[in-house]
Amino acid sequence: MKALVLSGGEGSRLRPLTHTNAKQLIPIANTPILFHVLRAIAEAGITEVGIVVGHTAEEVRAAVGDGSAFGLAVTYIPQEAPLGLAHAVLTAADFVRGGPFVMYLGDNVLLQPIDGFVREFERARPDAQIFLARVPEPERFGVAVLDGDRVVRLVEKPRERISDLALVGVYLFDEPILEACASLRPSWRGELEITDAIQWLIDHGHTVRAELVTGWWKDTGRPEDLLEANRMMLGTLEPRVEGTVDADSVLEGVVVVEAGAKVVGSHLLGPTIVGPGTLVEGSTVGPYASIAGGCEIRESAVADSIVMEGCRILGVPGIAGSILGRGVEIRRGDGGLHRLVLGDQSRVETP
Ligand code: TTP
Repeated sequence: MKALVLSGGEGSRLRPLTHTNAKQLIPIANTPILFHVLRAIAEAGITEVGIVVGHTAEEVRAAVGDGSAFGLAVTYIPQEAPLGLAHAVLTAADFVRGGPFVMYLGDNVLLQPIDGFVREFERARPDAQIFLARVPEPERFGVAVLDGDRVVRLVEKPRERISDLALVGVYLFDEPILEACASLRPSWRGELEITDAIQWLIDHGHTVRAELVTGWWKDTGRPEDLLEANRMMLGTLEPRVEGTVDADSVLEGVVVVEAGAKVVGSHLLGPTIVGPGTLVEGSTVGPYASIAGGCEIRESAVADSIVMEGCRILGVPGIAGSILGRGVEIRRGDGGLHRLVLGDQSRVETP
């Protein structure tokens, strides 16, 4: 079986982060979401992976390379524009034709391994298998209406509440999905919707199975989803200290200090991770803080946040629920005024 990973798209809900970063490469517990996805695919015993890429193709290629670091052979499939998940399948038709495949959205975080799903699909051999999770806000997702375990209807981002079962971003398809996608017209939001393609399968007498995911799952479309995914992923870490921690520092709970990191006179509250070469001095970090490599945090407190590479946080006592892109600097200023240099669509909340 092959895997198709969707790593194109616009990422408009994650601006400004996605002005400069592919959203699939945003780090969760210091590891890009896409890497978590590729590992799950490799663990399911799949080696041939096609990655659909859009305007961030170069960044994705630079991060993943030929896939050998994950035990995978990766083929890149450029998509001309983010015209929908079903459009991505059509773009990858030559890659997926000739057998069943798993399609995995490159911005979805699933704690449950997918090998059980794959084995179940191979045993039952339906034309499609979807995964569902109960969600509090179904209007944000593609949802499924079931009759017993049979899928009767799928609707993308329903305007009225017809089901609270959202489609998780992992799908198993056999060849008929190509004909289904080819027969679609763009939806009201101008995309070729995968939900419409699966509905087409149902309407044309193909078998579509549904399974409920039991483990935690997150579609990281919005900043608050990234923070929740970060909390969840940090919760799976094992403690590890490879950097240096001086005698005046206290580590509580599950803390990872990567090689070359330096912790001086600080309090680290787990779960939390401090990346390679980062300096933490006179500060409190965590719980639920992911500090990437090459950062400097002095006389500050950072909790429940994602701090990407090369950030400097100097003399700032209360950072929480925040996402800082690469090379961001936040420092205490004089005169009680905020001094901000913010790129397009940045967001700041003040007390
Ligand atoms: P979405 O989150 O549905 O779309 P998006 O990335 O464009 O985000 P936004 O709505 O905030 O603008 O995409 C799910 C995944 O599929 C994500 O990893 C991007 C990828 N994708 C493609 O590869 N091609 C596409 O045409 C689309 C729409 C998404």
